[in-house]
Amino acid sequence: MTDRYAVVGNPIHHSKSPLIHSGFARDTEQDMSYEALEAPLGEFDGRVDAFRKAGGRGINITAPFKLDAYDYATHRSESARLARASNCLKFERDGVYAENFDGVGLVNDIVRNLGVSFAGKRVLLLGAGGAARGALLPFLSQNPAALTLVNRTLEKAHALLRDADAAEIVPVCGYRELNGQCFDIVVNATSASLREELPPVPATVFGEDALAYELVYGKGLTPFLRLARNAGVRRIADGVGMLVEQAAEAFFWWRGVRPETGAIITALRMPLV
Ligand code: ATR
Repeated sequence: MTDRYAVVGNPIHHSKSPLIHSGFARDTEQDMSYEALEAPLGEFDGRVDAFRKAGGRGINITAPFKLDAYDYATHRSESARLARASNCLKFERDGVYAENFDGVGLVNDIVRNLGVSFAGKRVLLLGAGGAARGALLPFLSQNPAALTLVNRTLEKAHALLRDADAAEIVPVCGYRELNGQCFDIVVNATSASLREELPPVPATVFGEDALAYELVYGKGLTPFLRLARNAGVRRIADGVGMLVEQAAEAFFWWRGVRPETGAIITALRMPLV
């Protein structure tokens, strides 16, 4: 019987995951199907129960169900626990396993696809919500020279560092304190771009030859990327590579086969204009 997988969200019609995973399955000759499931709000558990009964082996999860997925699981990885959210579940005989591959997908995109190493670099992470929670430990695992966390609400940033046991190695600051500071990798993990807002980051944070990375994808030149470009930053990227890389991690976790990601990233990439 063909193994079934799906992405669950609401709305779901915009999701690129069926395209990405179907491509991976074709390329690696896996006997599996991958569909998009829209769960009514408040009905995540029932919808997933039904999918499992019908032979589902695993799901990806997108907004607004990442917390529901985390709660649904019986076994949670460290990355899922720190993010308090899961974007990938695997259904096994002994229970439901939860992972969160957003952070590792982000690092893989920066290091492998964009060719930017973290070693010796000064890294600035904007935001302290779910997206920043996912990025923190994968960033630290890359041994940057320094990682600074900035957020409007300082207490939220401190809480994240306490949860990650990283309060002693990661300084927290407010946006004003960024004046006079300069970084090699600046990652926007706030949700500001979803509303065409600009986090109040000074244009002087971008060091020479810096990378400006926006987690949101498919929105062209967001206010953050525009700020970077106007400041003369040559290397700017949105999160399409991260999307594909987290999917590749999920695919590998489910199937034990690592798919190629380059061609699909190129196909999905929209011009940053
Ligand atoms: P997500 O799961 O997408 O990270 P979230 O948990 O609601 O969403 O967190 C949103 C993050 O974006 C927060 O860090 C938020 O800052 P505050 O904690 O200070 O609210 C940040 N954010 C949202 N809009 C922003 C803006 N216009 N400027 C700066 N930061 C913003």
